[in-house]
Amino acid sequence: MISGAAQGLGRAMSLAVAEFGADVVLLDLNEEGLTKTAETIRSLGRRALPIRCNVSEPEQIRAMFSQADREFGRVDFLANVAGEGILGKPEEISLADVEQTWRNLVLGRFCMCQEAGRRMLAQGRGSIVNIGSIASQSALGRSHIAYSMAMGAVIQMTRELSTEWSSAGVRVNSILPAQVVNPSLEKRMAEDPNLKTKFLSGIPTGRMGQPSDIQGLAVFLASDASSWITGAIIPMDGGNTAMNAGGTRRYPNPV
Ligand SMILES: NC(=O)c1ccc[n+]([C@@H]2O[C@H](COP(=O)([O-])OP(=O)(O)OC[C@H]3O[C@@H](n4cnc5c(N)ncnc54)[C@H](O)[C@@H]3O)[C@@H](O)[C@H]2O)c1
Repeated sequence: MISGAAQGLGRAMSLAVAEFGADVVLLDLNEEGLTKTAETIRSLGRRALPIRCNVSEPEQIRAMFSQADREFGRVDFLANVAGEGILGKPEEISLADVEQTWRNLVLGRFCMCQEAGRRMLAQGRGSIVNIGSIASQSALGRSHIAYSMAMGAVIQMTRELSTEWSSAGVRVNSILPAQVVNPSLEKRMAEDPNLKTKFLSGIPTGRMGQPSDIQGLAVFLASDASSWITGAIIPMDGGNTAMNAGGTRRYPNPV
């Protein structure tokens, strides 16, 4: 079961696990995108169940799980990918926007974990991945206060759930991406021509992330190849968090 499956990281994860044999419940608000992902998965010979579900709304999450229970009867892997932050300067952002961001990224992910966790505990096995961000561990500035606070909570959720559930066979891990190209990031980079240069100066591999960069981790964490990996907070960031803010990446052609 993968949220945010219409595009970007969620779509890439869905296709990767399907390629390795999974039947997939696909969740998103974007029905057109969901249909496209489902069609691609079916062309790989796997089952796809696209469901329009707002993963910020517990009632929709619970109804969606009832439908998935009826159609699939079990959930082996959950990837919590969807969830948007609302930007705003710390001194200006409304508490309603802070609360909505928390609902999108913390309450929604927790409700998904709780519903999947209950089923996985009954099965005696399961794997959950909560997508965090480099903002789970360090500050981005540029009006990311609500997003960073919520993403910080996501990795503590992962550690707590891992500690509570791993002895019962349910593993919980987080992946922390740095800047992966998506439509909203492309829009922000178009508005501020210096932004891409700024990002790349902090990414030692010298390129932005692509959604496909998450595919190997998705298959690894969904499978028994990672059976002793739980509570891990895994950067997927081209070396960004390893590099000190005062460090300098090496350029292929010195500038
Ligand atoms: N792209 C990055 O640079 C980056 C970096 C770190 C963390 N992340 C996090 O990874 C996640 C996915 O990022 P992405 O780049 O794939 O984004 P994206 O914008 O390309 O895709 C997000 C998908 O989630 C869906 N969605 C949004 N809110 C939803 C909701 N409430 N219910 C159901 N579906 C919803 C959207 O319709 C969209 O299809 C986000 O939580 C994002 O904050 C992204």
